[in-house]
Amino acid sequence: MSIVFLNDSFVPMEEAKISPMDRGFLFGDGIYEVIPSYEGMLVGFAPHIERMNNGLREIGIDFAWPVEKWREVCENLIEKNGRGNLGIYLHVSRGTDSKRFHAYPEGVAPTVFAFAFDIPAAPVADKTLAKGYKVSTTRDLRWERCHIKSTALLGNVMHFQHGFERGANETLLFNANNELTEASACNAYIVKDGVVATPPLDNQILPGITRFILLDILRKNGSIKVEERIITMDEVFAADEVWVTSSSKEIAPVVEIDGKKVGNGEVGDVWQAAQTLYSAGKHNY
Ligand code: PDD
Repeated sequence: MSIVFLNDSFVPMEEAKISPMDRGFLFGDGIYEVIPSYEGMLVGFAPHIERMNNGLREIGIDFAWPVEKWREVCENLIEKNGRGNLGIYLHVSRGTDSKRFHAYPEGVAPTVFAFAFDIPAAPVADKTLAKGYKVSTTRDLRWERCHIKSTALLGNVMHFQHGFERGANETLLFNANNELTEASACNAYIVKDGVVATPPLDNQILPGITRFILLDILRKNGSIKVEERIITMDEVFAADEVWVTSSSKEIAPVVEIDGKKVGNGEVGDVWQAAQTLYSAGKHNY
């Protein structure tokens, strides 16, 4: 039975109750995080909490627990839910109001919810064993505040569904200028002539923590060149390799886009080199 955290108590999932007047439910008015944990070890804990605090500040939710309080919640969830490969989901909504009124209410306590869910084992950095992803593409029709990790995910859900209905694992998104933004629940990258490129951080994409860790590791190592720059969809279709990253998958190699092969249709050498470095370095974050 899964044990979850709700407003300062650990309870069985079945006993966790939230009011239908919670603004998270009515408006998607909240911020969330997903932090990966492998065999009891959290990856990127501090930057995940920092991103959540940035999001809370930006949407005017006055809530900032000390980092150690969040760590205690995460570690308790890991212990109570079996220490396997887990995603730790953290969620702070603006709280439960007595009426449905759009303006931020005064004097309402945020709702804090957290639970653990199974994620796949971290990828083994071997291109002969790696799962190649298939993706579809569609115009990015989300809002212009995609840097905020809002619980209002309908735009992302609809984009993910686009790929899902076509038998794909993810959906790559492009803006009105035919430029790659990200994927419905991942950041996106191309590799051309050995150089890794990913779109720059702005309001069109989430500042992914896997992205941050990966770029930092690659830059410190220096053996693979990295660029943060605008990438056109023509470049995506002409790339040697395409990857997507997220906390629950690390670096996922894409082998097919809209039914067309990426490069030679196989998982690439640069992916293997990057995932090797990521696997070795991720626990330093
Ligand atoms: N998704 N972009 C979007 C739109 C995302 O939803 C995510 C994460 C990422 C990657 O961020 P990170 O590396 O910090 O996980 C990029 C999470 C895992 C989710 O919604 O389940």
